[in-house]
Parts: sequence; structure tokens; C-alpha cells
Amino acid sequence: MDITILGIESSCDDTSAAVIRNGVVLSNVIAGQKVHEAYGGVVPELASRAHQQNIIPVVHQALKQAGIDKKDLSAIAFTRGPGLLGSLLVGASFAKGFSTALQIPMVDVNHLQAHVLAHFIKADASDTGQPQFPFLCLLVSGGNSQIILVRRWNDMEVIGQTIDDAAGEAFDKCAKVMGLPYPGGPVVDRLAKEGNPAAFQLNKPHIPDYNYSFSGLKTSFLYLLRDELKKNPNFVEENKADLCASLQATIIDILMQKLRKAAKDLKIKEVAVAGGVSANSGLRKAFEDHAEKYGWKIHIPPFAFTTDNAAMVAMSGYFKYLDKEFCPMDAVPFSRVSI
Ligand code: KG4
Repeated sequence: MDITILGIESSCDDTSAAVIRNGVVLSNVIAGQKVHEAYGGVVPELASRAHQQNIIPVVHQALKQAGIDKKDLSAIAFTRGPGLLGSLLVGASFAKGFSTALQIPMVDVNHLQAHVLAHFIKADASDTGQPQFPFLCLLVSGGNSQIILVRRWNDMEVIGQTIDDAAGEAFDKCAKVMGLPYPGGPVVDRLAKEGNPAAFQLNKPHIPDYNYSFSGLKTSFLYLLRDELKKNPNFVEENKADLCASLQATIIDILMQKLRKAAKDLKIKEVAVAGGVSANSGLRKAFEDHAEKYGWKIHIPPFAFTTDNAAMVAMSGYFKYLDKEFCPMDAVPFSRVSI
């Protein structure tokens, strides 16, 4: 029998709905929220209001694009956390209402697990490129930089993580001091293509184990700009591409060094990357280089599944549905929850 899951994602500033049937994605609709651009970051109250406006049209569109009727759904999966509480409440409330009306079960999904499980989404029934367990997943986004040991879909262990800022934050905050728009990551990525990655030396952290730190890099970038701007007020304008290339190369170096160490120590050659920063072209290239040099079997998600999306939520919901792990009607969202 077909298992058809509607996924709902509303943890931050993207309202998304997707349909997955037997692991194959049928639709994945994402509505972004332009309202935050004027503020240089996500404003939680504005985000939850925009989710309220978007959720019904987005679900309607996801069902339509999937070519199914709501009566065909087996269950509804929704992001329960971590995320912005007001935003999560919109998705959770919608899921509760819809599952009650359709009399089908509800499945709660951990947003971070969903990013990892995005690698199991099939483009079609013949798609067999999914990772083999155990594998390592580098989860890099605006709020997280973690190395996760994935033993099974519901058995994940964070073996290393940032002790301060996330990699995405380092991209965004350094972009901000250069006067680039938010989110800075994609802009830095674009400008870095024209620059010299060895033009500027930036601080790399020395911290133990598989953990990360990006605050020192951020400070060294800030001080570089402060000192150079004193000598030349046009320094940023004249060196933008080199600054972006050097910043990006340093962030990637930091990320890959610990990932290499973990892969070597644990003797794991199956390595994946997930989260918003996995869209970065330099990071993708570094993964390809590591595959060649160290014999890694790498898993890089399609762009549509790198940022927040409901297909990954529906995929996680599909696994939970198979294990009959349903969620009660009184489940409340969590703003903070680990993997
Ligand atoms: O996973 P995600 O969509 O959600 C949050 O964690 O909020 O990640 C967003 C982060 C932002 O910091 C953004 O700048 C970064 O991902 N990002 C990128 C690129 N695309 C998105 N960073 C570097 N290069 C990119 N191409």
C-alpha cells in the first residue's frame, strides 16, 4: 500500500509544504518571507504572522503539484523544533487541525534530523543514491555547525559542534561588516568566485576534539577591516572579492579539517553535508576534492533540499510512520531540542 506523507515546515522564515510518497518527492513548495530583508535578520513576530498568511496556500499548492487529494494522505508530519516558537506554533497548529479533520495520524519531526534525512529523499523510484549507515553528516546552517554520526534514521549522535557561532553566522556577520545584504552567505559565495583565497590570512581556531569555533575568525575579520580602513577608506570596495574568497576559504578549511579527523578516527568513508551552508560552491568543491583524495563516498543534497524545506520533514515523517511513531494531539513545539 502507498504511504503518502504531507510535510509542514515552519521553524524559521520559510513556510513550506511537501508531499512524499514511498520516499519519492512529489512536491516541495517553499514560500520565503521578504519582510525581514529591511531588518538584516529574521524578526520572530513578523515571521509567525507571515506563516499564518502562507500556510494554507502553500499546502494547497503542494497537494495540487503532487496531483493528489487530501484524502490520499496517510499522515501529516510537522517540524516540532528547534526553531522560533511562534513560527513552529503555526505549523503545529495547522498539522493538528488537518490531521483531526482528515482523521489521520500526526508525526512530529526534529528539524535537525530532517536536514540529515534529506539525503534519503528520492527524485524517483529508481533513485538509489542514498547514504549507507553508518555515515557522517556535516550539518552547517545559520544556527548550527555539527558533525553527526548517523547510525540509523533515528539513531544520531552529535560528535562535534560549534562552541560559539555557526558557520552560516560567520558568513552572514562578516558579510554585514562589508556592507553586503542579508543573508550574506550566498553573496560571499558569488563574490568569492572572482577573488584570491590566499589574499588575506585570517584566524583559525585551535580547539580540541571535533568541535568548531568561529568567533575568533569573525573578530580577526573585523579587526582586519578596521585597521585597513584607517589607511584606505575604500579598502572594502577595492578588495571585496579577495576578502570574500579568503573568508570562504578559511571557513571551509576549518569545517573540513575536523570532518577529516572524524572520518579518519572513526574509519568512515561515507560522508554527507546538509543545511543552508551546504549550498556553498566552495564547500561542495571541497567535498568533491576529499572524495577524490581520501576515497570518500560523498552525499551533497540538491539545492532545493539545502535550505529549510518540507520535503525533508515529510521524509523524516515517512521513516517515523514506518516505525509507527505517532505524535499525540497535545504535543507542543520546542524552541530548543537536540538531535
Ligand atoms: O539551514 P538554513 O537555511 O537556515 C538557518 O539555519 O537559518 O541556513 C541559512 C544559512 C545562512 O547563514 C546563509 O547565509 C547560509 O545558510 N547560506 C550560505 C549559502 N547559502 C545559504 N552560506 C554560504 N554560501 C552559500 N551559498
